[in-house]
Parts: sequence; C-alpha cells; structure tokens
Amino acid sequence: MDDLILQLLKEPSSAFLSGQELSRRLKVSRTAVWKRINHLRNLGYEIEASTRSGYRLIQSPDLLTPLEVKPILETKWVGKTIHHFHTLDSTNSKAYQLALNGAEEGEVVIAECQEKGRGRLGRQWFSPPFLNLYLSVILRPKIPPYEASLITLMAAVATAEAIQKVSGLLPLIKWPNDILLRDRKVAGLLNEIHSEMDRIHFVILGMGVNLNMEEKMFSKEIRTVATSLKIEMGQPISRKAFLQSLLFELERWYTVFLKEGSAFILKSWRGWAHIEGRRVRVTSSGEGIVGTAVDVDSDGALILETADGKRKRIVAGDIQYKR
Ligand code: BTN
Repeated sequence: MDDLILQLLKEPSSAFLSGQELSRRLKVSRTAVWKRINHLRNLGYEIEASTRSGYRLIQSPDLLTPLEVKPILETKWVGKTIHHFHTLDSTNSKAYQLALNGAEEGEVVIAECQEKGRGRLGRQWFSPPFLNLYLSVILRPKIPPYEASLITLMAAVATAEAIQKVSGLLPLIKWPNDILLRDRKVAGLLNEIHSEMDRIHFVILGMGVNLNMEEKMFSKEIRTVATSLKIEMGQPISRKAFLQSLLFELERWYTVFLKEGSAFILKSWRGWAHIEGRRVRVTSSGEGIVGTAVDVDSDGALILETADGKRKRIVAGDIQYKR
C-alpha cells in the first residue's frame, strides 16, 4: 500500500490529494490512509496535511528503500526484490543467509550503514551511514566453481562502466577487482561463493562504492589511497541514480557472460585494467614479489614474469604499480 500512496502522491497532477480520494483509490478507510501517511512520515517522507485540501508530498528521503529505488530501476530481474536495512553487520553476511534460505537469483541486499563491513583479505570496509553504497547481489550461475572468479571480473567491469557513465571520469581496474580514480580506490568488490565440487549453489557479489565521502571523513591511514565520486567530481552524487546504473550494468554484463562466455569478459576487463607490461609489486600471503604483469589467466589469476624470466601465477593478493 505504501507503494501505491507514494505513486499517487508523486503523480504530476496531484499537488494535493484529499483523504477521501486516497481512501477511494486505495479502497481503505480514511483512518487507514492517515495511519499509512504517518508511517511514511516515520520513514522520512515529508508530507504536508491540510484539513481542507488533503495530503501533499513535499520531499522524499534520500534512502535506498525499495519504495524509492524500485520505481527507477531499469533492470529486468536484478533488484526485483530488495532487502533494505538501516544497519547491518555486513550486506554479504545477510545475503549469504538469505541465499541459504532459498533467496532467488537477482535479490539484492542494501544497507545504509555497515557495522562490520568486510573487505578482501580480512580487511574492514569503512561504511558510514547515508553517504555511499553497500550492497550484495545473489547470483546462481550454472557454471563450474573454477569459473567463479570470472564473475568477479565481470562485476568489476560492470562497476567501472557504471562509474564512467555516471561521472564521465575514466576509472581503472586494479587487479583483481579494485576500482581506482586518480590512482585512489573508489570501489571494491568482495565476492563469496557457496558450492560443491562441481556445482555452484550461489555467489554473493558484494559491492562497496564511495559516493559522497569527503576527504576528511577517511581515516588518516586510508586518506591518501581512497577517494569518492564526490571528491573526484567536485559535486555530490545521487545514490539512487548510481544504484540504478550499477544494477543495470551488472544485469547486462552478467547476461553477456552467461551467453558469450569468458572471452568477452576478459577482453573488456583487460581494456579497463591496462595491466599488460606494467611493473608491479605483488603482496601475496605476506610475501612480496616484483615483476612484469603479462596478463590475467582465464580464471582471473595474475600472470607475472619475474627478473629471472620465470612466470608465476598469483591467485590472491594485492598489487602496487611500480614506475
Ligand atoms: C575490498 O576489499 O576491496 C572489498 C570491499 C567490499 C565492500 C563491500 S560493501 C558491501 C559488501 N558487504 C561487505 O561486508 N563487503 C562488501
């Protein structure tokens, strides 16, 4: 019913809608309308009420609730169900639980803030409220588990593309799946898989994008290596508009991946990463190796050539570019 009330109040013709008209259109009593209006106010909707003219929507909250997000989504199936929370430990943990309980492909978990936002390699992901995007998407691809890391590359491509489309800036993917602007991290992905030896039950695509953080909000340790779209663009960015674009790109690239296979994704990933021939230092399991990046393997591993001409496959770790 909330959906419907908001839809009616958002109609261009409806400056004011009388309680009587609302009760007629919704087929409920005027007291029931009044209760729902109060409920919407508690959610942050500013609604003017006048005894003579009825109700008028003044302002919607900048929240990523299904009520606000679903009407603007351009996807066919990603985000048809949105689980929205003010606070969660981690959207990935919540999505994992939901998927274990049978949630469908394309269901999305969004939190306004995370208390234990998780990053790669056991790190934390700083997740203050109302500024950024913290979401997890449940996917159930019918692919063998050894191909799961391609989903991660696919998601990095989709994120880079959404960032470019919304901001006009040119992001870079840093292996394996950091998204950088001006050499600073603007987005990160944490993907978790639940599978048997030969079958994936589900993949949780966790995405964190810094949208409206300001430099002073980052801790000293990450201030020099992190950024946000607001910092880079010099103006705030609509979280809803970004979410709309991100889910659209994700659905599009996932469909391409399922149809065309890995080659197309790898080609696009290479185009965003420009890694070939770059001198890098890799930190993997506490060990540092310097070499020249040759390519990514078909499973997403980094192929590195060291000074002695030997090639190594790096499956997990961090890289730093060297001059
Ligand atoms: C990284 O280390 O680069 C990955 C960061 C991933 C952060 C996102 S925010 C939404 C989702 N929930 C989490 O706990 N982590 C991911």
